[in-house]
Amino acid sequence: MSLTEYAAAEVRLGDRGYKIYVGAGLSGRLGEVVAASKPEATGCVVVTSEPVDRLYGEAVAASLASLSPRTFLVPDGEEAKKWENAGTLVGRLLDAGLDRNGVVISLGGGAVGDLAGFVASIYMRGVAVVQVPTTLLGMVDSGIGGKTAVNHVKGKNMIGSFHQPVAVVADPLLLRSLPVREVRSGLAEVVKYGVIADEALFRYVEENTERLLGLDQECMSHVIGRCASIKTTYVEEDECDDKGVRAVLNYGHTLGHAAERLASPGLRHGEAVSIGMVYAADLAVRMGLMGQEEAQAQRRALERLGLPTKLPAALEADELIRYMRRDKKSEEGRIRMILPTGIGSQPTLRTVEESRLMEALEAVT
Ligand SMILES: NC(=O)c1ccc[n+]([C@@H]2O[C@H](COP(=O)([O-])OP(=O)(O)OC[C@H]3O[C@@H](n4cnc5c(N)ncnc54)[C@H](O)[C@@H]3O)[C@@H](O)[C@H]2O)c1
Ligand SMILES: [Zn+2]
Repeated sequence: MSLTEYAAAEVRLGDRGYKIYVGAGLSGRLGEVVAASKPEATGCVVVTSEPVDRLYGEAVAASLASLSPRTFLVPDGEEAKKWENAGTLVGRLLDAGLDRNGVVISLGGGAVGDLAGFVASIYMRGVAVVQVPTTLLGMVDSGIGGKTAVNHVKGKNMIGSFHQPVAVVADPLLLRSLPVREVRSGLAEVVKYGVIADEALFRYVEENTERLLGLDQECMSHVIGRCASIKTTYVEEDECDDKGVRAVLNYGHTLGHAAERLASPGLRHGEAVSIGMVYAADLAVRMGLMGQEEAQAQRRALERLGLPTKLPAALEADELIRYMRRDKKSEEGRIRMILPTGIGSQPTLRTVEESRLMEALEAVT
């Protein structure tokens, strides 16, 4: 099949536009992807972490052979996003002689993608980056949309830029090595897209739970493609996340981020978002925004995916609320949350009274 037949979605942003290719085996065709998206490219570097390099580095480098790739390893997981790593990586790109026509290939989860995207945005005032996410979260969310970030000791994602990739390549075959907990975590974001924008996607996940958990390639490609096109529409309307449109993608994340930050033992991001969506839906029902059956359907779908739907008992409601006040959507310390209005219908941004929130935090059983 020709490459263009795999273009499941396209971000239309003029000369910053790009295609999102989704399909089994595409990580073996990266040379073609670079040729199609950055024809003037003269060289490339692959940025990845050791565990991902061990699994896929060789095949990826082989698919880029015509561009004489060099591979640079960065620390794995959130460690990758240490501010110092950005400077180190810039130094290595300079040593490698990457010029302004060079391409950075980011191979890894959201953490590697955020660092590689950030470095690509500042290196020589910006070079092209191709995002090749290797986690489901990366394929449906972080790889798309051009948000890049590293962490500061004073806060996560406190340093960053908007730098759209020149292409995104999602190869569901790469998910086979991913721990099942990471797969479930990514599927929480898929449910999120269904609830906020696409009832058919939600039903598809309900009907194909087992096949998705079994990493059926056809099912995975379908949902990744759908999520990518949904995210694309928000990115096109609100490229720099300053118009409030992209905030909808934050459904489940206000409480989710607080739970993710405060829970011990830790929660994966998608697990925390799953819990956050259940409580947000409960609030929506209490506020008359959504029917009880729809909230229950969402909860059942998450449960069937093996995702948690209740806050860990050890988390204190007032501590969660304190953390939620610091959320980026808050206004003068008043908590604002994205609340659903149904399955597949546009959610709404609402100020939530803390007394009501407290009730909801104590109510879900
Ligand atoms: N830029 C954005 O728009 C955006 C959106 C959401 C999240 N993020 C960021 O993404 C990060 C989280 O990303 P993540 O959930 O992908 O986690 P991650 O990048 O930390 O990766 C999780 C683990 O999975 C391993 N891994 C990755 N791919 C694998 C594979 N195919 N097989 C086996 N193991 C594999 C990694 O080595 C790592 O240990 C956070 O830093 C978050 O801030 C960014
Ligand atoms: Zn998320």
